[in-house]
Amino acid sequence: MSKSGVLLFIFALLLLSNDINCFDFGLSNMADILNTIKDIGFDTLKIYGLVYPIQHDAKLEFPPVRKFEKQLINYINAVSRKIDFYDRNFENKNNFVLDTIVTKLPEKLMLDSRMNDLWKYINQIDSAYQNFIRYSLSPSKYEQYTLEDFAKSTLSSNLNAIPNILEIIHRIVVPTQWNENVFHNSILYLLAKHIKEASNQICNTEQSSQQLLYNLYKTIALIEIKGYTMMQFSLTFLKFYKIGNFTKEMEEIQEQSISRASEMLRAVKMAMAIAPRDIWKCDPSKHKPESTFTNIKMVQGYIVNEVDMNPLGTCKENCEYYSYSRVYGCYQNQFCNEQRPCNGKLVNCQYVDSDMWICPSESKSDRRYEYVEYENGRTYGKKGTCNQGTTKVDSWWRWLFWHCSYCMCFCDDHNSSSHRYFNLRDVSSDVQDNKVVTGMKLIKRNQIIHIQIQQGKLLPYGGINSSTIEWKEADNYSITDQNIKEHVDYHTIMWEKRAIDLDDLDAPEGHLLTGLKFRIIGAHLNLEIRTTPFNFTSGKLIPEKSLWDSHDNTEASEMYGLNGEIHQVKKRIELQLNKPDIPTRSLAQSVIDSQTNQFLLFQPTDLEKDAAQNTVPFIDIQPVIPNPPMPLSGAGIFHKGREGYGGFLALKAITYNFEPHMHAESSLSVPVNSKNDDSVNNV
Ligand SMILES: *[C@@H]1O[C@H](CO)[C@@H](O)[C@H](O)[C@H]1NC(C)=O
Ligand SMILES: *[C@@H]1O[C@H](CO)[C@@H](O)[C@H](O)[C@H]1NC(C)=O
Ligand SMILES: *[C@@H]1O[C@H](CO)[C@@H](O)[C@H](O)[C@H]1NC(C)=O
Ligand SMILES: *[C@@H]1O[C@H](CO)[C@@H](O)[C@H](O)[C@H]1NC(C)=O
Ligand SMILES: *[C@@H]1O[C@H](CO)[C@@H](O)[C@H](O)[C@H]1NC(C)=O
Repeated sequence: MSKSGVLLFIFALLLLSNDINCFDFGLSNMADILNTIKDIGFDTLKIYGLVYPIQHDAKLEFPPVRKFEKQLINYINAVSRKIDFYDRNFENKNNFVLDTIVTKLPEKLMLDSRMNDLWKYINQIDSAYQNFIRYSLSPSKYEQYTLEDFAKSTLSSNLNAIPNILEIIHRIVVPTQWNENVFHNSILYLLAKHIKEASNQICNTEQSSQQLLYNLYKTIALIEIKGYTMMQFSLTFLKFYKIGNFTKEMEEIQEQSISRASEMLRAVKMAMAIAPRDIWKCDPSKHKPESTFTNIKMVQGYIVNEVDMNPLGTCKENCEYYSYSRVYGCYQNQFCNEQRPCNGKLVNCQYVDSDMWICPSESKSDRRYEYVEYENGRTYGKKGTCNQGTTKVDSWWRWLFWHCSYCMCFCDDHNSSSHRYFNLRDVSSDVQDNKVVTGMKLIKRNQIIHIQIQQGKLLPYGGINSSTIEWKEADNYSITDQNIKEHVDYHTIMWEKRAIDLDDLDAPEGHLLTGLKFRIIGAHLNLEIRTTPFNFTSGKLIPEKSLWDSHDNTEASEMYGLNGEIHQVKKRIELQLNKPDIPTRSLAQSVIDSQTNQFLLFQPTDLEKDAAQNTVPFIDIQPVIPNPPMPLSGAGIFHKGREGYGGFLALKAITYNFEPHMHAESSLSVPVNSKNDDSVNNV
C-alpha cells in the first residue's frame, strides 16, 4: 500500500471508531496518536510540497499565493474536520466532564488549584485554535502581516505562547520529576485515587469514574493535537513566506508532541487501572413510593396480651417467654378486637409497661399504630395529634398472682397478599442476538421483587448500538398462579429467612455481563451474575461459553486443606442497622455503608422511633444505567443509608474495564519522521 493508501486506511479506521458511541477508541492507543500527529505533520508538508515540488524549478520566482491559499484551506479543512471527529461526540460531554468533576465530586477532590489551572490552559489553547481556524480558512481576507504575526506568536518562546502552554499542561498531567513514581503524581492518577477513596459518596455521574478519566484524558489529548496542528501550520506559513527553512523545527515539534502524547497515555492507563468502575444512584431529590423506592412487609410491631398467646388462655408466664408463638384467641373481645389481627407468627415479645394509650392508624394504612404511649412515659413511634383518637389499653391481674400483661411482639403475618417475595428466575439478555446487559433496576410486580435488565447489541471495540437499547420485559407471574413454586420461582422473606447477601460481582477479563438472578444459598438470598466471553475486535459474544458466577461464602465457611488443616475462608459479616428509622425520613443523602461479602437482615424499624411498623431496608427502584450506554462486566447489590435510618437496598452496575485496551506502546514500525516521503508529490 502506498503511504497515502495507509493514511486513507487509518483515516477510515478513525472514522469508524467515531461511530462507536461510548468509549471512542480513536485516541486510546499510541498508534492512533502517532498517526494523527504524523498525519498532520504530513499534511503541512504536502502543502509545502505541492507549492514547492521537491525538484522545484529555481526559476519559479514568485510564490503562487493563490494556489498556496487554496491548498492551505483544503488541508486545514481536512485536519480540522479530523479533529472535529474526535470532538463531535464529545462536544457536549466536554462540559459534562468539567461539570461532573467540579460540581458532582466532593470539593477535596479538586486537587488544589491544579485542576483550575488545567482548565485555564486548555481554554487558552482552545480559543487560539478557534482563531487559527478563522484565519486560515480565509487567509486572503487577512494581511500577510497578520498571518505572519499569528504564526510567529504561535511559535514564540513567550510564556503565554502555545509551545510553553502545551508544556505546562503536560507537566500538570505528568509532573516533571523523572523517577518511577512520575505517573503516581499525575493529576489523572491522583484524581483516580481520590475518587476511589470517596467512591461511597460519588453517585449520579451516569458514567463510571474510569469513563470520566478517559474523557478527561481525551480532552487533554485533543488539546495537544490542536496545539501541534497550529505549530506545524505556522511553520509552514513562515516557510512559505521564506522566513526560514524550519526543517529541524518541524521534526522537533513532532517529536516533542509524540513524547508528550505517549507519557499522557501511560498516565491515563495507570489512572484507569485503579479508577472505580461502579455506577449507582444517589437518593432522588424527593422519595416517591413505588416510583423511586418500594418496600417489603415482613414483620410489624404488634400489641397482644399474654392471655391470647397460649391455647389455654393463661397468664402464668411473662412476655419474654413468648419468643415464638401465635395468637390463639381474643379474650373477652378486648383491645384484640379493635385491631387488625395477626394471623401469622409472633416473635420477640417483650414487656414494656402495663398500661398505655394506643393511637391506631387508619384502616387503609399499612401501619397498625401511629404511636404507643406507655404510662411510664415511654413513647414508641412519633407522637403527634391522633386523628383517630387514642385507645386506653390496660393490663390486668388475675387472682392477684398472675399479671395478664400486654406485650409488644413482632407479627410475621404472611399470606398471599403480602409484599415480601423475590423472583428466583434467570434474567438474561438475548445473547443469541449478541445482546448484553447495559443497565438494571429492581421492580415490584404482583408483590414480587424482580431484577429488570436493559439490554443492547454489542458492537466492535466495546461499543453498544444505542438504537437497540431496550428494557427486557420482566416476568409477570403471580405466586397464586398454577405451577408457580416457592423456592423455584420465588423466595419468601420471613423472620427465619430474612438475610440477603451483599456482593459486588465482576466478570473475569474478556467477559461481559449477560444476566442476573437471585438464588438461595443457606437461608440467604444471594445475587448471581451471568457472564459471557466476547471478542473485543469483532464485538461478537460467544454465547455457548456463558457462565453463572457468584460469591459462595456463607456466614461461617471453613475449608479443609490437603492435610486436614482448616483454612478460615473470609466469613460473611452482618451489616448491622442500628436503631433504624424509616429511611425516607433522613434529610441527608444516603452513602454506601456496606462492603462486598457482607449480609444484612430485613428487620422492623426501631421500636422507639417507629413502633416497629415498617420493614427495612427499603428498596431503591431507580434505574442504574450508564449514559452513554456501555457494556458492563458486573453488578452488585449493596446497602446505602445513614446512621440511625434503615437505608435502602440497591443495585450497582460495574462497567467494562477498558484499561487493558489502552496501548501505550506504538505498534507501528514506520519511522516517525516522514518528511522525505516521496508520496508528497503524488497526492
Ligand atoms: C532546509 O534545510 C535542510 C538542512 O537543514 C536542507 O537539507 C534542505 O535542503 C533545506 N530545504 C530548503 C527548501 O531549503
Ligand atoms: C392477608 O392478610 C390481610 C391482613 O392481615 C387481609 O386483609 C387479606 O385479606 C389477607 N389476604 C388473603 C388472600 O388472605
Ligand atoms: C444499530 O441498530 C440499528 C437497528 O437495529 C441498525 O439499523 C444499525 O445498522 C445498527 N448500527 C450498527 C453500527 O450496527
Ligand atoms: C401482567 O398480567 C396481567 C394479567 O395476566 C395483566 O393484566 C397485566 O397488564 C400484566 N402486566 C404487565 C406489566 O405486563
Ligand atoms: C476476534 O475477531 C477478529 C475479527 O473478526 C479475528 O480476526 C480474531 O481472530 C478474533 N479473535 C479471537 C481470539 O477469536
